[in-house]
Amino acid sequence: MKSPIRISVTGATGQICYSLLFRIAAGDMLGKDQPIILQLLDIPNARPLFDGLVMELQDCAFPLLTGLITTDDPYTAFKDADIALLVGARPRGENMERKDLLEANGPIFIEQGKALNAVANRNVKVLVVGNPANTNAYITLKNSPDLNPKNFSAMLRLDHNRALSQVARKLSRPVTSIRKMIVWGNHSNTQYPDLSHSEINNMPVTTLIDDDNWIAKSFVPTVQKRGMAIIEARHGRSSAASAANAIINHMQDWIFGTRENDWTSMGILSDGSYGIPEGVVYSFPVTCNNGHYQIVQGLELSDFDKRKMQKSYEELITEQSTIMHLLT
Ligand code: NAI
Repeated sequence: MKSPIRISVTGATGQICYSLLFRIAAGDMLGKDQPIILQLLDIPNARPLFDGLVMELQDCAFPLLTGLITTDDPYTAFKDADIALLVGARPRGENMERKDLLEANGPIFIEQGKALNAVANRNVKVLVVGNPANTNAYITLKNSPDLNPKNFSAMLRLDHNRALSQVARKLSRPVTSIRKMIVWGNHSNTQYPDLSHSEINNMPVTTLIDDDNWIAKSFVPTVQKRGMAIIEARHGRSSAASAANAIINHMQDWIFGTRENDWTSMGILSDGSYGIPEGVVYSFPVTCNNGHYQIVQGLELSDFDKRKMQKSYEELITEQSTIMHLLT
């Protein structure tokens, strides 16, 4: 029997986690032979919801769930964590601008970064999902100076999956046949879903689609605005099950590796690749191997690509400047 892996999850009584936790406990993320301990964090007001969640997790009698902790203290939640999924965040209230959301979430991720720095396993893998995910990930890693910045990532996998699914539907091909999709940048409307390197059986996807108008007018905006379309369709509730699924996909690739001749999109600390200056959490195409990611190098970019990528970078810089006073 393998020893259990400690998985900390924040926002545990929220919508995404209502889908996520049961799938993790069933073995969908780490495999059917990997015992886990769930260390769940939410705010004190969530206590009654925690009680119900715990009862349901118990009632599933998951063979792999060997421990379960619920707490409102990040230092307890992140103690010895091997994996930390930072899903919890303040939701965007009515009349709240993105700037207000950043200000409201900054202190949460400062505190959680400090707690990870103090008590998590030194090899912890941290995925930030709570929005604005890229900048929250930046805040978290800046507050964890003793941990390797490469242990931190922000989730763009839902956008990546949305892009794969749009192409699969357009071409009536299986999702698994599509390789080398990219979503660059910020998890926001400025993200740039980029088909220009994607292939099916070594054929460029753009050639197979042969419809630039569809790519520019349908594919790109559909992926960029999908989150809002789902909120409208679900009468105000955001994408939860698909976000949970993307969390599982992101962590599986990071831990077990991306498949041969393919890559994925991950929000990670930029290192200057592709003209994106160092010091923002930006989504790049990455391959993963032995629990480490590497940015795919050497892809040719058109001027159009560069402009789109720059726009998302500039948005991230604006976001950072909004919260910079919280970091100093
Ligand atoms: P939700 O509002 O249902 O749940 C959020 C949970 O976070 C609540 O239980 C709340 O009490 C908790 N929370 C708030 N402050 C906390 C703190 N300081 N510590 C621990 N928990 C705290 O939201 P939902 O639908 O579960 O989404 C969670 C986040 O994920 C949101 O910010 C959402 O915008 C984001 N999201 C990100 C996606 C991505 O692709 N990166 C996709 C979908 C959602």
